[in-house]
Amino acid sequence: MKIAIVGKGNVGSALGEGLRLARHEVRYASKDPKEPIADVVLWADAVILAVPWTSHKVIAASAGKFFDDKTVVDVSNILTPNMELAMGFTTSGAEELQKLLPKARVVKAFNTVFAQNMRDGRLKGERLTAFIAGDNIVGKEIVRKMAEDIGFDCVDTGPLSSARYLEPLGMLNIKLGYGLKMGTDIGFTLVRERAASRSRAA
Ligand SMILES: NC(=O)c1ccc[n+]([C@@H]2O[C@H](COP(=O)([O-])OP(=O)(O)OC[C@H]3O[C@@H](n4cnc5c(N)ncnc54)[C@H](OP(=O)(O)O)[C@@H]3O)[C@@H](O)[C@H]2O)c1
Repeated sequence: MKIAIVGKGNVGSALGEGLRLARHEVRYASKDPKEPIADVVLWADAVILAVPWTSHKVIAASAGKFFDDKTVVDVSNILTPNMELAMGFTTSGAEELQKLLPKARVVKAFNTVFAQNMRDGRLKGERLTAFIAGDNIVGKEIVRKMAEDIGFDCVDTGPLSSARYLEPLGMLNIKLGYGLKMGTDIGFTLVRERAASRSRAA
């Protein structure tokens, strides 16, 4: 796949490295005018938005139309400046992003994993779970392939509104890792009977 990554920070770099190791083509977009979002997104089959959620509005305002019909991966955790959840219950960051990019196929993914563990989706010999949520089946299959090619075990949690549960789970990861000082060498794995859970999600 041709995968555009907007944002070259911790998450963008780690996912980009993992996807390149899995032989996907990766190009980055940034604030640098030499790496414009429009060009890179138009080139791509799918786009990972690896930026803070507070940048979604400005990106949609400046380049929103280029995301039409693209699969867009929302990795963000929806935090306030004092590290609390900024929304929940009746909406989620992912659903708000979908409103900003109404013709894109927004899929929530990877927000429950620390960037340090995104390069190969593994920790201490275990495959970490990449929970995904989205309303578009094609988009979710693309993101499932990305996650599995990197090395994650992928679990479809249903419609995009399931991001209302994945965003607090990302918050829990942060609280455990930083608040309770367990560090970033931690992650979630859903133990289950794999064939059954895959057919139920379909
Ligand atoms: N770090 C983690 O472990 C982790 C885990 C799960 C999810 N997440 C989520 O992943 C996202 C990225 O986190 P991160 O840790 O990678 O942050 P980061 O290291 O601060 O990187 C963010 C990147 O986004 C870029 N950016 C911001 N606004 C932009 C815009 N308008 N156009 C283009 N690029 C823009 C920044 O560029 P500049 O430096 O030039 O501003 C920077 O390269 C966040 O939403 C976070 O909640 C992070």
